[in-house]
Amino acid sequence: MKATAVAHANIALVKYWGKRDDALLLPEAGSLSVALDRLLTTTTVELGAPEDSLRIDGRAAGAAELVRARAVLDAAGVREPARIVSRNDFPTAAGLASSASGFAALAVAACAAAGQERSQRELSALARLGSGSAARSVPGGWAVWEEGDAEQVASADHLPLRLVVAVCGEGAKPVGSRDGMKRSRDTSPYHAAWIAQCRRDLPDALRLLRARDLPALGALAERNALRMHADALAADPPLLYWQPATVGCLHALRRLREQGTGVWATIDAGPHLVALCAPEAAERVEAALRSVAGVRDALVCAPAGGAHVVDQSLHARPL
Ligand code: PMV
Repeated sequence: MKATAVAHANIALVKYWGKRDDALLLPEAGSLSVALDRLLTTTTVELGAPEDSLRIDGRAAGAAELVRARAVLDAAGVREPARIVSRNDFPTAAGLASSASGFAALAVAACAAAGQERSQRELSALARLGSGSAARSVPGGWAVWEEGDAEQVASADHLPLRLVVAVCGEGAKPVGSRDGMKRSRDTSPYHAAWIAQCRRDLPDALRLLRARDLPALGALAERNALRMHADALAADPPLLYWQPATVGCLHALRRLREQGTGVWATIDAGPHLVALCAPEAAERVEAALRSVAGVRDALVCAPAGGAHVVDQSLHARPL
């Protein structure tokens, strides 16, 4: 009645920013992501506890997180109270905690603890109910999420790639992605254009991924991220997720490009920037990002695989 699973965080190159169904967490447009090897969450679920509990990195989680975790368990048909212990194995503690890897690991561990055998697509759909982007951390690799679940469209080794995460701030972001995307959808005059853009970007990105065309795919990802932030900035009240270091990193990458290094940026709903480049450029990119004022750390990641069970012990319950 106890199982442990691991899952990697993912970064989207075509981003999910807008729901067509707030209750079911269904996206307005499809998204494409790649999983990050060094951003790993390990979650243990033990069933038959006196009551639900959730600890993340040694601390009791807030009520809202517990409600979301319970929503995933309920959808999986796991009614018994669960003791959930989750650890983010991130080399830096500066606000990189990821709901995507957390809910992916939770869905996989909870079903394993309950002795359920579920397909990857079912597990992805369950993870989605915790956090939309978690649907993509279940298959891992290069994953596309368009409807209820995400699927892997290319394996982690399909394209030689490094993702350099520049840590540009710390602490929780002022407005979480759930509220941020709702505000953008409901108040930003650019939102419809943003969604139309994503619907064009996804097939283009998939074509470029198949062709292993990193320069064109990287440029598309950077445009897509900046357009998502344009939508967020145009919300009322405006959503400004960047810190000065974020902008410093964008300029640093521009300078590297002018000097001939192929490197492109993407930024989620927070201050951190993720630079995409070929493996041989990673050291140069890491050094450039570390030298930007306000950058606290830089972490070179490679693409990773999907969520999976690492330990499972099913005991018959005592009478
Ligand atoms: O899954 P959520 O609710 O944390 O939303 C993720 C939103 C972005 O990270 C900004 C984009 C994405 O596709 O991951």
